[in-house]
Amino acid sequence: MTLLELVDVTASYGPVQVLEGVSLSVPDGGAVGILGANGAGKTTTLRAISGVVRTGGRIVFDGKDISGLRPDQVAARGIAHVPEGRGTLPNLTVRENLMVGAYLRKDRRALAADVDYLIDLFPNLGERIGSNASALSGGEQQMLAVGRAFMARPRLLLLDEPSLGLAPSTAKNVYDAIRRLRVESGIAMLVVEQNATLAFSIVDTATVLETGRSVLTGSSTELKGRDEIRRAYLGG
Ligand SMILES: Nc1ncnc2c1ncn2[C@@H]1O[C@H](COP(=O)(O)OP(=O)(O)O)[C@@H](O)[C@H]1O
Ligand SMILES: [Mg+2]
Repeated sequence: MTLLELVDVTASYGPVQVLEGVSLSVPDGGAVGILGANGAGKTTTLRAISGVVRTGGRIVFDGKDISGLRPDQVAARGIAHVPEGRGTLPNLTVRENLMVGAYLRKDRRALAADVDYLIDLFPNLGERIGSNASALSGGEQQMLAVGRAFMARPRLLLLDEPSLGLAPSTAKNVYDAIRRLRVESGIAMLVVEQNATLAFSIVDTATVLETGRSVLTGSSTELKGRDEIRRAYLGG
């Protein structure tokens, strides 16, 4: 079943149109990548889904058109966004940041179990559960941002360049944990990445954006085999 479908989505910042027609779909429980150069519109595509920018075209989630909804309404439908730059709250502790992600939930007992699960998934967060987020390393902040989004128990996670600014070994650790989260939770994921090698380690299919348009969609295996993808995104 298709969980999320974008059909010819357009978006603008003021008078400047930056998405010219993005189409993609994410199956329920599936993981889909968005690849593309800097400025291609990857972040804007996630913002369009989250209701942060005004859009044209159709955005259908769980069978209903969600374009035009406010960000809080989109979140309430079950979409959690881990933004570029992470967006953790520096003056709150790790635990408090996680609880911010859970603000719509009432099931206190399950909340505690989910915090325990995240500490198992990201042991660094457990060691720093009472520290302010400002004290975390870049990798730990990324883990916290993913953890906070998971605390909303979404049906779909939007991940914007989880590897950005991280050392390669840290980025790999973050991706290993995201892969485990995917397998164990069944949460669908839409993953923006410039590092295609990392993206292909978790996604089944990917869409390539160029100047605000989706130009190519295929399975990870198929895309990895294409010369233009290897040259542009895989360093070979
Ligand atoms: N807040 C903004 N106001 C105006 N233009 C923006 C804004 N954010 C991004 N843009 C422009 O929109 C285009 C797409 O940006 P973005 O979605 O951030 O690309 P990507 O995430 O693929 O690097 C770029 O040309 C960028 O300069
Ligand atoms: Mg971006």
